[in-house]
Amino acid sequence: MSAGNLKRLKRARPILNRDRRVELEPRDFILPYFIVEGEGVKEPIRSMPGVCRFSVDRLVEDVAEAWGLGVRSVLLFGIPGAKDGSASAAWRQDGVVQEAVGALKEEFADLTVITDVCLCAYTSHGHCGIVENRDSEVRIDTKATLPILAKIAVSHGRAGADLVAPSAMTDGQVGAIREALDREGLEEVGVLAYSAKYASNFYGPFRDALDSAPRFGDRRSYQLDFKDPDEAIEEIERDVDEGAEIVMVKPALAYLDIIYRAREKFDLPVAAYNVSGEYSLVKKLSGAKEAREEDLVREVLTAIKRAGADLIITYHAKEASRWLG
Ligand code: PBG
Repeated sequence: MSAGNLKRLKRARPILNRDRRVELEPRDFILPYFIVEGEGVKEPIRSMPGVCRFSVDRLVEDVAEAWGLGVRSVLLFGIPGAKDGSASAAWRQDGVVQEAVGALKEEFADLTVITDVCLCAYTSHGHCGIVENRDSEVRIDTKATLPILAKIAVSHGRAGADLVAPSAMTDGQVGAIREALDREGLEEVGVLAYSAKYASNFYGPFRDALDSAPRFGDRRSYQLDFKDPDEAIEEIERDVDEGAEIVMVKPALAYLDIIYRAREKFDLPVAAYNVSGEYSLVKKLSGAKEAREEDLVREVLTAIKRAGADLIITYHAKEASRWLG
C-alpha cells in the first residue's frame, strides 16, 4: 500500500478498524473427565500429565474448581469395574457416568453436562460396538449395536445429562438415539454427534486413560480415513439429517481444514475435540522447555476457534481458563 493509501485509510478508521481478532473465552471449552468406581479416588494418568481419573466425590470437587475458573461444560467418560462382550455396565442406572451426572446436576444446576455414548470402555474387546468377527478387519454388527447405544443414551438422559455424545461411529447412531430419547419423553436432551471422527494416531493416551485399546484389529473399518476430506462432510450431513444439535470434528489440530469446511457448510454449532495426543504433545514440548505451555496452548486453541469451532473439547480447559482470567 502506498503512503497515500495509508493516509486516506486513517480517515476511514472508524469503519475499517473493527477488531476481527479471535479471542478465546472459558465458555468455549468443554472439559473431559474420566470417572471410576469407588470413593476418594484421584489417580493421575501416566500418558496424560495433569489429567486424573476421579471417583464421583472427587469429581465434584474438581468441577467446582473448573466452574470457579469459568468453565461451563464437561464431557464424562466412564471406566466400569467390569467389562463384558455386550457392554452391560454402560446402561446401568447406577453406573459411574449416571451417578456422576446426578451428582453434578445437583451441585451445579447451570453446568452443561455431556456424556460420551460408546461401548469401547465397557466391552472386553475394546471395540466401539458389538463385533461380528475377530479378524484384523473388524466388522461392527450395526443391528446389535444401535439398540445398546440407544439404551446408554436413555440412561444418561434419565440421570440428567443435557447432551449425549455418541462416539461409536456406528451408522445410524444419531437417528436411533434421537428416536429412543423422544420415545422415553427425553425430548429436551440434545445430541452432540461425533460426526467426523478420523482413525487417528492421536488417540493413544486416551486409550491408556480409559483402558479401551482394541484387543484385536483396529478402528479403521468404522472411523474415517484421514486421506479423505469429503467423507467427513457427508458424515456430518447425515448426522444433521438424523437430528444432531451439534456436530463434531475430531481430532482438531491436524483437521483444521475439516473444521473450516464444516463451519462454512452447516448452520449448527461445530465442536472440535483437541484430543489426548494433541494435549500430550503440548505437555511434552513444554516439559522439555522447548516452548512455554501457556503460549502453546493459546496458539493451539486460538487456531481451532479461528478455523470455525464454536466449542472446543480440551483437557487444557482449566489451565487455559486460568491464563485467560
Ligand atoms: C471412542 C473415543 C475415542 C476418543 C474419545 N472417544 C477414540 C478412540 O479410542 O477411538 C479419543 C479422545 C482423545 O484421544 O482424547 N469412543
